[in-house]
Amino acid sequence: MTSLNTFGLISQAEDFFSLTAETQLSALLERVKQVSAYFVLGGGSNVVLNERINKLIIHNQLKGIRQVSETDDTVFVEAAAGEVWHDFVAYCIQQGWYGLENLALIPGTVGASPVQNIGAYGKEVKDYLWEVRAIHLLTGEQHVFSKDECRFAYRDSIFKHEAKDYLILSVVFAFPKKWQASLNYADLKKYPGLTEQSTAQDIFDAVVAIRQQKLPDPKVLGNAGSFFKNPIVSPTKYTELVAQFDGLVAYPQENGMYKLAAGWLIDQCGWKGKSLGPVGVHDRQALVLVNRGGATAADIRQIAEAIQADVAKRYGVEIEPEPIFV
Ligand code: EPU
Repeated sequence: MTSLNTFGLISQAEDFFSLTAETQLSALLERVKQVSAYFVLGGGSNVVLNERINKLIIHNQLKGIRQVSETDDTVFVEAAAGEVWHDFVAYCIQQGWYGLENLALIPGTVGASPVQNIGAYGKEVKDYLWEVRAIHLLTGEQHVFSKDECRFAYRDSIFKHEAKDYLILSVVFAFPKKWQASLNYADLKKYPGLTEQSTAQDIFDAVVAIRQQKLPDPKVLGNAGSFFKNPIVSPTKYTELVAQFDGLVAYPQENGMYKLAAGWLIDQCGWKGKSLGPVGVHDRQALVLVNRGGATAADIRQIAEAIQADVAKRYGVEIEPEPIFV
């Protein structure tokens, strides 16, 4: 499955089911009954796959985008889980459905977007998500999760916890007809030419340009985006760290806690551009690990643990991987 995970890891699964239409769902439920474990794969952009996976891999390739309804102020759009995220964002902008432009060029699929509540440049998918249609793979029950039921948090949702056994079929988005540019994130604020009068297309283009400049293209250099989540620390810990470390990058949270830039912590530990075996730390964004060729999950684990240990030693902060290990 080297081509089905953006890290380009060498991996082989025991069994594989390619889901291309909802008419295959009863056959899929039958297959699930026969295996001891399964894993749902979307774009493979947020996973670290073991060399040998003793699971049924379900490759979600459901397609389709349609406007479901419209009110005076909102357009509701449903997209099937297997749609490629970036293509969906581009299509929405073309249709005049604005809001997702800050989330341009995030790898992966529409169905994976609510699982970890993808986010970038000051926006998260939860800001435009209305509901999620899903099927329970063990009971066959279909359920529509309202946005509240999804329990979204930073890179987290119910689909990483109690709702793990649901396969996401489609996601419904709500786009307000009255749109406003969101340029609060530092990289956008300072981007030449962007102003409150810029269009959604202008922001989309800027986000694409910024990401292309900072983040490696998985087609060229295998990676899974940010490898670590930005850690959240208490006000006490934050005060202690700012006093000790000049230039610490931190963002105050609504609940009084502080989110630290893990990229900065890793960079300061001297890891940027370094490698351990076939896995490296990207030279333009220390939060991204890259496969320099022939890497396996064990190689990723090795460098990840070494980085975690250094950050813990220097700052007393635990950083957690963002991708799911399978
Ligand atoms: N920084 C460094 N050195 C580095 C990397 C970052 O000093 O090597 C500093 C930057 O100068 C900046 C701060 O750390 O002051 C934050 O960096 P950046 O704006 O690049 O964002 P990030 O916090 O590292 C997060 C998301 C990204 C998302 C960007 C933009 C997480 C784990 N990552 O990265 O999401 O694109 O913000 O919004 O929250 C992803 O999840 O896969 C991902 C790429």
